[in-house]
Amino acid sequence: MSKTKPSQNKVKKEYSAWRTIKRLVRDLKPIAWAIAIAAAICCVSVWLGVLAPEIVNQLTNMIYDYGANGVAIDIELLSDLSVNLALAYAGSSMLQIAMTVLMTNIASRFYTKGLRTRISDKLQRLPVSFVDNTPNGEILSRMMNDVGNMSNTVYVIIETLLNGFVRIIAITYCLYAINWILATAVVVLVPLSIVLSAFISSKSEKSWHDFRKVNGNLYAFIEEDYTGFDTVKAFNLEDRQRKICDEISENYRQKVRRGYYLSGLIQPIIALTNNIAYVAVCIAGGLLAINNIVKVGDVMEVILLAKMFAGPLESIANGMGSVQHTLACANRVYALLDREEMSPATSDEVPDGKGEVEFKHVYFAYTQDKPLIKDLNLKVKAGQKVALVGPTGGGKTTVVNLLMRFYDIDKGTITIDAIDTSTMDRAKLREQFGMVLQDTWLFNGTVYDNIAYGKENATLEEVKAAARQAHADTFIETLPQGYDTVINEESTNISSGQKQLLTIARSYLANRKMLILDEATSNVDTRTEILIQRAMDELLKGRTSFVIAHRLSTIVNSDVILVINDGEVVEQGTHKELMAKKGFYTKIYNSQYELLK
Ligand SMILES: Nc1ncnc2c1ncn2[C@@H]1O[C@H](COP(=O)(O)OP(=O)(O)O)[C@@H](O)[C@H]1O
Ligand SMILES: [Mg+2]
Repeated sequence: MSKTKPSQNKVKKEYSAWRTIKRLVRDLKPIAWAIAIAAAICCVSVWLGVLAPEIVNQLTNMIYDYGANGVAIDIELLSDLSVNLALAYAGSSMLQIAMTVLMTNIASRFYTKGLRTRISDKLQRLPVSFVDNTPNGEILSRMMNDVGNMSNTVYVIIETLLNGFVRIIAITYCLYAINWILATAVVVLVPLSIVLSAFISSKSEKSWHDFRKVNGNLYAFIEEDYTGFDTVKAFNLEDRQRKICDEISENYRQKVRRGYYLSGLIQPIIALTNNIAYVAVCIAGGLLAINNIVKVGDVMEVILLAKMFAGPLESIANGMGSVQHTLACANRVYALLDREEMSPATSDEVPDGKGEVEFKHVYFAYTQDKPLIKDLNLKVKAGQKVALVGPTGGGKTTVVNLLMRFYDIDKGTITIDAIDTSTMDRAKLREQFGMVLQDTWLFNGTVYDNIAYGKENATLEEVKAAARQAHADTFIETLPQGYDTVINEESTNISSGQKQLLTIARSYLANRKMLILDEATSNVDTRTEILIQRAMDELLKGRTSFVIAHRLSTIVNSDVILVINDGEVVEQGTHKELMAKKGFYTKIYNSQYELLK
């Protein structure tokens, strides 16, 4: 038996940086081709990039020799060099652009989209308990921010590893080919800035980490505040909500400020240290040139190369910063992807009988330390109407949740037509049931769409017939656009009783062999209730049904009534039998009767 308890669901194993990196690299496989092309473009771009200073060197020497020694300028060579210089610079830049375009447009989109699809598929396979225990804002933040950040990996890897390292190697080689003293000055002084900036970025990374946490809280809060809008208003909780919002916002502001402040320091510090390095190279170069150890053109080339040297070092430093950032996001995304899924089906049997349901010694708990359902036994013959009654919180809805396998049971078996439901495909199992719940679920679409949701490719005739059976046709025809009336997002343009009738019509159309009605008439007026009652009685005919109702008058005619209290069936029988017992049921029945008098 599969267990999908929240506590077991948590992924406890730590994600080491190295393991995450290996996994990220593995996930990059589908875009390996794009990375290979980018690498090739990068090498050519770097080659053109270091070629340019070499041409400048020749040009400078040519002009210097003319000015200082009166050597005549070879005009043809001059124009050739100039053209080559322009081509080298332009070519190098264009290839850089090509690389960025390639990575942003093809690779990252492909990668990000693939990842989002994987997460959304994963969410489909997670047990309901995951959704119970995770604020929606957190899932949202993971889908949007974390995945977005993760796809930056693509740039980090390309920019840092390829561009950065290839450039550094090529430039170092060229520098030492000119003069080792100048080369060493550049190679030692320029990276100093990187050490400083790495130090600051480690500090700023921490504040961004805190920021993302607060960001998740903010999302969760907004989501909660919005979905509970009516309740907040009804209970006059605006002040309380505002206070919480202010706190989270203030926290958010502080974290953002610190993050930006520290990140903002990095660039100026790099610029300052680099300038010191350039000045040192100029002075040393001047001295060497005066002593004829190097030419003036060589000094020019070294300065140009030194300027080019800082860029890739910077990008590596930034890259390292974002590697950490990316790893943190990747860890969260992978933790989600690694969550234990619902167990797959082990047989493809589908119940083909009339709908006989049996619970045998069923035990279940939402949280491990609080057992709820204890040794539940129940045998329902095909076509019987079973009523579940009892105090709120007793476990009635839970029985339905177990039957539909929204949660997996801990012990015992549930069978439908003698097939163990724990072996069945969940979708096929759920196809056996029609459900009408207290919280009606309608989506933003027409009345027609909402009823037709019960059956694929339903025709208008079928939809109308279902509406008639559900006694919903009269009110639908009075709507401004009839069946084409659009139900808005919060479905505020029709009453709750009317919504209920629509969901009943949907169940009629779906024509499932078993039915579950969970407090379907709890929030409608008496007139509508009678209408709904009539609709439901017809719907129940010939189907095995589980009816949960507060008003006992609606279930007195049931074949079996289960009185459920504290997760246990305390009484079981027909209305007559239970009344004769003068027990728990009689008490509830009489108290309701009293109220009605
Ligand atoms: N998703 C859940 N996670 C944890 N506990 C739950 C969950 N759903 C219900 N419960 C708890 O289980 C008990 C039974 O709930 P429920 O089956 O909804 O009762 P009823 O439908 O009879 O009113 C209650 O104490 C409730 O708080
Ligand atoms: Mg309930």
